[in-house]
Amino acid sequence: MENLLIVDDNEDVLTQLKWGLAGDDYRLHLATRVDQALEIFRKVSPGVVTLDLGLPPHVDSSEEGFRGLSEMLKINPSAKVIVVTGNDERENALQAIKLGAFDFFRKPIDLDELRVIIRRAFHLHAIERENTVQQGAVEEEVRDHCGIVGACPAIRGVLNLIGKVAASDVPILVSGESGTGKELVARAIHSRSLRKKGPMVCINCGAIPENLIESELFGHEKGAFTGAVSTVQGKVEYASGGTLFLDEIGELPVNLQVKLLRFLQEMVIQRVGGRKDIAVNVRIVAATNIDIAAAIAAGTFREDLYYRIGVVNIHLPPLREREGDVRLLSEYFLNRIAADLGKNVTGFAPDAMASLETYAWPGNIRELENRLRRAVLLTDSTLVTSEALGFGGDGGAGGQDGFSLGDKTLKEARAMVEKKMIAAALAKHEGNIVKASEALGISRPTMYDLLKKHGIEN
Ligand SMILES: Nc1ncnc2c1ncn2[C@@H]1O[C@H](COP(=O)(O)OP(=O)(O)OP(=O)(O)O)[C@@H](O)[C@H]1O
Ligand SMILES: [Mg+2]
Repeated sequence: MENLLIVDDNEDVLTQLKWGLAGDDYRLHLATRVDQALEIFRKVSPGVVTLDLGLPPHVDSSEEGFRGLSEMLKINPSAKVIVVTGNDERENALQAIKLGAFDFFRKPIDLDELRVIIRRAFHLHAIERENTVQQGAVEEEVRDHCGIVGACPAIRGVLNLIGKVAASDVPILVSGESGTGKELVARAIHSRSLRKKGPMVCINCGAIPENLIESELFGHEKGAFTGAVSTVQGKVEYASGGTLFLDEIGELPVNLQVKLLRFLQEMVIQRVGGRKDIAVNVRIVAATNIDIAAAIAAGTFREDLYYRIGVVNIHLPPLREREGDVRLLSEYFLNRIAADLGKNVTGFAPDAMASLETYAWPGNIRELENRLRRAVLLTDSTLVTSEALGFGGDGGAGGQDGFSLGDKTLKEARAMVEKKMIAAALAKHEGNIVKASEALGISRPTMYDLLKKHGIEN
């Protein structure tokens, strides 16, 4: 039940309101003086207050009422204070609104009217409260999850898993398409681990020429090969005490997979050209955008290595499968980018949101971020449009993958696709109706019906 505080020095008014509002399901608190009102205000923190302005000791001015109003809003700025004034106190009422009152109301009191104002005040109060709670929750999540934004069930699962495994030293394999946030997850794991004060060393197994990978990973002794003029530590050694992030592990040549496996089993390395075993203490996080199971089947990835690095597998779904996250991420990036670039871009035009939500995002979150950066940079308006995002001005994300929303209904879109498919099948099979209907998986009579429906001449 909501707390409603009524402040009036006139006992008759209090009685009238007490009985008049008795049926409205508020917990009523009554006060006749400001100090008494403030005491109650502090104790029960009412969402709504009705405050008479002419209160003792200054019954003929609004001074005491204004004091009460200011004090209350100092204690709780979100409280809704409705001031109640005498008949001719319009100036005071306006002054009260300036001071932060929610609304004003003139005596003599019309209960029905007052009731509506009170209800409206409680309503607004509830909405604001909910917003603050949500806002707080969102901010907290972004902070807690090391910048991983997302609310779809799959991402919640990922965050949950990160929380469970980060503190232990188990090796983790992060998989997902390009741009889905694998490195971000690796960083989140590192920063939530007991090794967070240690280094996080990244190595991209796909970006280093094959003949250099071994020395890059394990280092080399002076004179190990031509050009090895001094002894150099490898990245694995550098990562000691911290986390070693092996990006694109699927690209690691098979002979190095063997060496990596040996290292993982024994946690010692030998520099290239060296004989000495050097113990290293690292936690491995690997990432891949290829399907490791398929690579194992194809013989390009060692199964035993997979079992070592993939003790825990964190899979990041592509953006197009993350229900609702495009909107969340778009808003998150828009705010960040606009602040970065110092531009007053505050939201999305309706066509832009439609495009964002229907586009297939082959480049996932990286592509989303890049498109938004470009749009914010180039736009002259406060809203990002579909066109600014590079989706063309038709309101759809068409062209790229055939998904164009525009202002079509689902029925119209279906008909359009149907017509295109039939025309394409006929073209492919040189007008042969039997073959075209087979290719489309429909019967011949159905095909004839559709040809007629779409006015296609064969
Ligand atoms: N859930 C997320 N919330 C906020 N930002 C994200 C999220 N996922 C990814 N990003 C951002 O998207 C960009 C791409 O992410 P990241 O580099 O981690 O992807 P990746 O999977 O490693 O890509 P690749 O396979 O191409 O290496 C980064 O700028 C990252 O900060
Ligand atoms: Mg990456």
